[in-house]
Amino acid sequence: MNAAALKIDSLGIRFGGLVALDAVSIDVAPRSIHAVIGPNGAGKSTLVNLVTGLYAPTTGCVTLDGQVLTGLPPHRIAERGVARTFQNTELFTDLSARDNVLIGLHRHLGYGLLASTLRLPRFHRVEREASRRAEELLSLVGLEAQATTSAGDLALGQQRRLELARALAVGPRLLLLDEPAAGLRAAEAEDLCSVLLRLREELGLTLLLIDHVMRVVMGVSERITVLNYGRKLAEGTPDEVRRNPEVIAAYLGGGPDVA
Ligand SMILES: Nc1ncnc2c1ncn2[C@@H]1O[C@H](COP(=O)(O)OP(=O)(O)O)[C@@H](O)[C@H]1O
Ligand SMILES: [Mg+2]
Repeated sequence: MNAAALKIDSLGIRFGGLVALDAVSIDVAPRSIHAVIGPNGAGKSTLVNLVTGLYAPTTGCVTLDGQVLTGLPPHRIAERGVARTFQNTELFTDLSARDNVLIGLHRHLGYGLLASTLRLPRFHRVEREASRRAEELLSLVGLEAQATTSAGDLALGQQRRLELARALAVGPRLLLLDEPAAGLRAAEAEDLCSVLLRLREELGLTLLLIDHVMRVVMGVSERITVLNYGRKLAEGTPDEVRRNPEVIAAYLGGGPDVA
């Protein structure tokens, strides 16, 4: 699997009179964990929506390994190896953890409705392969023991990791995570962080990790970009960003804690 390099170049979008993102450029190195942080309304989710093709930018361009993504519909961008999770959990709560991952896999592997209705040999082969893959993905995110538990009965931290497993089903090279640690207890956030590190090590993924609290991303990110009111306020290593006077000033007004 090739490591993916994401280049976000002068990306901007306007919603009516509001400039939600203003000429933001970010280089995400292959096989790195790059965090984007900033207070609510800073433009973080908008950035993810632009990269994944949900929104069309007013200015700028996004490339993955030099190939332009901007202008492609979301499913084409997904085919290039880009997957995401959403800020709000979107699991099927009545289905088991395993079935939630299988749904992601079925969308990816694909077999015709006719083949599945008639239960043709191809259906059984694909089905066996999908089950095996689902088990692998669940164990990659530390949920092998929860395979048959309903998603709705999992703890929040486990649900977030299940969403990760489902996003991985499409075999991405670049994964964008929109506030995966929001609302998690400290221990759950730590579990999540070790899974993210494992994804990078074992799958060679490039990760763009959105959060609004720097504390969560300090331990896992090589680089952090700070957004504020749609603009890039600072960028650097976690230490550089934490010491940046502009970041400190922006966050002193009761924003997310920087420590
Ligand atoms: N589809 C949209 N239509 C209008 N305004 C939007 C839309 N999406 C986001 N915004 C606005 O853009 C700004 C940035 O939002 P968002 O990217 O969700 O921030 P964050 O994820 O950093 O909290 C906010 O002011 C938000 O209200
Ligand atoms: Mg958001």
